[in-house]
Amino acid sequence: MKILITGATSGIGRQLAVDYHKLGNEVWAIGRDDGRLSELASLGLHVAKVDLSDREASLAWFAGLASLDLAILNAGTCEYIDLPAFDSRLVSRVLRANVETMAVSVEGVLPLLRRGVRPHLVGIGSSAAYLPLPRAEAYGASKAAVAYLIDTLRVDLRREGIDVSLVSPGFVKTPLTDRNDFPMPLRVSVEEASAAIRQGIARRRSEIHFPRRFTLPLKLLSWLPRPLWGRLAQTMVKP
Ligand SMILES: NC(=O)c1ccc[n+]([C@@H]2O[C@H](COP(=O)([O-])OP(=O)(O)OC[C@H]3O[C@@H](n4cnc5c(N)ncnc54)[C@H](OP(=O)(O)O)[C@@H]3O)[C@@H](O)[C@H]2O)c1
Repeated sequence: MKILITGATSGIGRQLAVDYHKLGNEVWAIGRDDGRLSELASLGLHVAKVDLSDREASLAWFAGLASLDLAILNAGTCEYIDLPAFDSRLVSRVLRANVETMAVSVEGVLPLLRRGVRPHLVGIGSSAAYLPLPRAEAYGASKAAVAYLIDTLRVDLRREGIDVSLVSPGFVKTPLTDRNDFPMPLRVSVEEASAAIRQGIARRRSEIHFPRRFTLPLKLLSWLPRPLWGRLAQTMVKP
């Protein structure tokens, strides 16, 4: 398979890139960090330094590829809001990093997938989008937007024969969550995350979520009336 992975220089994306390469696929790993890109190149992956916040440069780079069978749009970030300060620039930053880069990536990979074999588009969202979580105003909004974007693409791309999957992980141990200063229940390793995502992709699941012991209870809670959830969520709010 010809596979492209964004955000492949770190965490979940890096593990997916290395694992898919080991399985004999042709992998394009993209990111911004020179050192980590060189390390992936030394393992035999195709690498490219692409800042997805630069639309023109990103689209020019994508246009240089011939075709893709699988595109995993994973690049992203997380920042939390700390009230009473509400900084709208933080919200813009997170929306730019998680939603706009995903839209640019979709624009770049769609023509390539249309020339691929059994094409499959995969977007990495988050189980944080299931329900309102403390301090996640910006991150949750960005991942809710990603979920809508990917779920709608599934509807619109069906007639073209392009499968579309949304991945909603729970907590995964990566440099991104190593910055968190709160308990992260049932956090899994990148190896476990990669295995769950690859299994879901192989089965061409529309929705891939893991670990289920975390995401299933969260889904159940998301069915509660919002005022009731609002009261329960107070137990998670820092004093
Ligand atoms: N870890 C979790 O618990 C968790 C849970 C749910 C969802 N997720 C989602 O999973 C994805 C990966 O998270 P992670 O934990 O693996 O994070 P990570 O280790 O911080 O990796 C983020 C990756 O995104 C890349 N990236 C960010 N902005 C970019 C840009 N403008 N252009 C190109 N690349 C960019 C980074 O590249 P450089 O480092 O080279 O700049 C890096 O490779 C994110 O979308 C995140 O929201 C993570």
